Amino acid sequence: MDPAPSPAQPPPPPVHVAIIMDGNGRWAKARGMPRTAGHKRGAEAVRRTVEAAREMGVSYLTLYAFSSENWKRPAGEVTDLMGLLRLYLRNEVSNLNKNGIRLKVIGDRTRLGADIVALIEESEARTAANTALTLVLALSYGGRQEIVAAARLLAEEVKAGLLAPSAIDDVALASRLSTNGIPDPDLVIRTSGEKRISNFLLWQGAYAELVFLDVLWPDFGRDELESAISDYHRRDRRYGTAAG
Ligand code: IPE
Ligand code: IPE
Ligand code: MG
Repeated sequence: MDPAPSPAQPPPPPVHVAIIMDGNGRWAKARGMPRTAGHKRGAEAVRRTVEAAREMGVSYLTLYAFSSENWKRPAGEVTDLMGLLRLYLRNEVSNLNKNGIRLKVIGDRTRLGADIVALIEESEARTAANTALTLVLALSYGGRQEIVAAARLLAEEVKAGLLAPSAIDDVALASRLSTNGIPDPDLVIRTSGEKRISNFLLWQGAYAELVFLDVLWPDFGRDELESAISDYHRRDRRYGTAAG
């Protein structure tokens, strides 16, 4: 007799999920609250999402928290966002450690305050040995700026005679990006109904599946992550090959 068919295995989760966390301001405005209130609730959505991603078996979660272009916002809002970032780093690291989560920050640190840079370095060091999930926070991050920096590094190496121009290929460039060692995102989610990339992971996201959700970031949580991942599982990733 044939053995009973085993129940269908759920498909493995995407290895790397990246999220453009958008809509905090609109969430607050709809409630007649200041934008900062939206950012505060956004930080709670970050906690929920990190927890859910870890439980679902995602290996890398990259969150776009502050773009290179967000420095153009009013000084008061930038100060509030940096304050929330400080709070997050101070309060969350022990929780990250408890849950086996490693923190890595990408972006231009030269524009961040010295105390925040110190907090980032301390948080990265304290969580460096964790293996359940890598949480990548993109702060003061811009995809174009990152590619420009990598191009500059390559140029300096060529000038110093360490690298032949013919040795510059996609692997050489990728290894000079801040995401060196991190697999490319499989799934990029953007909340708030906007359908654009806004300078996020331009190189790395070349073949990412994109999911755009209308939900505003402060309302995002486990259900929304699960539904974006189910959407991802229905996609046919072809990487340029013929449709089967
Ligand atoms: C996302 O929410 C947070 C950051 C970009 C820092 P927004 O602040 O962009 O909210 P909206 O898009 O104005 O609603
Ligand atoms: C993208 O959101 C940046 C982050 C989520 C950190 P923005 O709100 O800054 O993007 P635009 O201005 O709508 O493109
Ligand atoms: Mg926005």
